[in-house]
Amino acid sequence: MSPVAHKPLLATVLGQRQERPPVWIMRQAGRYLPEYRETRKQAGNFLDLCYTPELAVEVTLQPLRRFDLDAAILFSDILVIPDALGQPVRFETGEGPLLEPVDVAGIDRLDRARAADHLAPVIETVRRLRATLPAEKTLIGFCGAPWTVATYMLNGRGSPDQWTARRFALEHPAAFERLMDILVETSVNYLAAQLEAGADVVQIFESWALNLDDAAFARQVIEPNRRIVEGLRRIIPDAPVIGFPRGAAGNLARFAANTGVNALGIDYSTPLDFIRTHLPPDLPVQGNLDPLRLVVGGEAMDNQVRAILEACAGRPHIFNLGHGIVPDTPIAHVERLIALVKEG
Ligand code: CP3
Repeated sequence: MSPVAHKPLLATVLGQRQERPPVWIMRQAGRYLPEYRETRKQAGNFLDLCYTPELAVEVTLQPLRRFDLDAAILFSDILVIPDALGQPVRFETGEGPLLEPVDVAGIDRLDRARAADHLAPVIETVRRLRATLPAEKTLIGFCGAPWTVATYMLNGRGSPDQWTARRFALEHPAAFERLMDILVETSVNYLAAQLEAGADVVQIFESWALNLDDAAFARQVIEPNRRIVEGLRRIIPDAPVIGFPRGAAGNLARFAANTGVNALGIDYSTPLDFIRTHLPPDLPVQGNLDPLRLVVGGEAMDNQVRAILEACAGRPHIFNLGHGIVPDTPIAHVERLIALVKEG
């Protein structure tokens, strides 16, 4: 068997439909697991957990010990990139990420030369995971897409409408393009290092692909994602990439056609019928259960899982949530979900 045949999830990203879809759960390591909360206590702050390979390996593997998942996703965060560029990131309980916002002058002070050294512990985590994981498990590396990362860098914290960053992109086009250039270059090097250290595939999280008009979507979402894929393939010609433009809605097909990603992550507000009617039949898709259905369980979950399986049955499909798992998810519901996907 070829190496690809040993890894059903990687094979699906590369376009080979499986009898039963492989499955992983977005944000599968984290606070809904008691063992995660335990390890987290040992780490001090959240980024220390990301930068300590021994602990990061441990939390990456925790969900795979409990559940029959087809992939491990590197434990890190999309905001290690601004942190690595010299814009420190803090996580306060209940607050989410906090940064000192960058302005035009702050963008010029970002220091790309220090990024690789700063991120070396994350690459070491990938190396150790590859050495530990069974051959049939796909190891997923990741980064945030430049636009999504920029929304945090420019606003200093999450925001429901990305107002600060959207306004900055219009008012300071040259500085905004410099910021995109820095993030594209740093992300390409970071993802290439992850693949070279043993990741099988990388996912680019574009969590804020919403609230953008036609021209802004092209400039802020499509173009930076496309440049990352292109830059990565200059270093690793066949690099497998999953794109996840959350909220792209009517722009989904355009994203898939113009960025060069192998597979497309679908958020839960995308109608199943849209997948059938608007996406090429051979395009691998990943998704798209509402995480709230996993919290509630029962028929609310089972019926929609069956509907997703049926809608994607004819194409390469990776089963997943349509956004990250939430902390109050019962573990028994995750077990049930995986049994349903694996056995029907
Ligand atoms: O299993 C995994 O997927 C773990 C690795 C991972 C984390 N964050 C760990 C994390 C991944 C892939 C991410 C991606 C991420 N981080 C995204 C994209 C996906 C999405 O949800 O849209 C975004 C936007 C972030 C930024 C971020 N990190 C926020 C907004 C927050 C606070 C809110 C939250 O979800 O907790 C984080 C913190 C974070 N990242 C935690 C974890 C496990 C919780 C930290 C804690 O232990 O307190």
